[in-house]
Amino acid sequence: MKRFILVSLVLFGSIAAATWAVCWAQEDAPSAGPGAQATGAGHPEDAARDRQAADPEQNRQPSLEWGNELYSHYCTPCHGVRGDGNGFNAPRLLVKPANHTDAAFMSARSDQKLFDTINLGGVEVAKSTLMPPWGAAFDNDNKIRSLILKLRDLCQCQAKKSW
Ligand code: HEC
Repeated sequence: MKRFILVSLVLFGSIAAATWAVCWAQEDAPSAGPGAQATGAGHPEDAARDRQAADPEQNRQPSLEWGNELYSHYCTPCHGVRGDGNGFNAPRLLVKPANHTDAAFMSARSDQKLFDTINLGGVEVAKSTLMPPWGAAFDNDNKIRSLILKLRDLCQCQAKKSW
């Protein structure tokens, strides 16, 4: 009889210990289900952080480096990787894309004129509609300012006039 009680005690003890261990492990495990981490939506700080996450370049300052990235992505198909107007699209265009390395041509255009051309397209500066407007696609004027830095780097020139 004594032995029976001892065995039951040991058995009961191990079951209790196992149950406790399982519960403890579950409590400790990081909860990863959906909605496990509250986002605190509705907070103005969170809204700002979400906007920043959606557009991490929102606060980026104009730079030649940025201009290089944008130019190679958006402008080289027509203006060419060297900016001389010989992009892969150029042979199919009825009007030849401008040569951005031509200092005489580029210095005759103010930064404001370049801004308007890039922002609103060729048609806004009495040029061909084959030069597309980029303003709506860019949503951030610092991209256009960066492209102007790139254009001035390509022509190695500054504007001879300010309008
Ligand atoms: C679909 C082809 C195409 C793309 C892409 C393009 N351009 Fe042009 N661009 C042209 C053409 C064509 C002209 C010449 C327009 C004319 O002489 O009437 C031109 C002319 C220009 C001019 C000179 C306008 C003037 O004052 O005579 C500038 C500056 C310019 N583009 C900048 C850019 C920049 C910056 C980009 C990239 C964001 C770009 N272009 C992308 C086709 C393109």
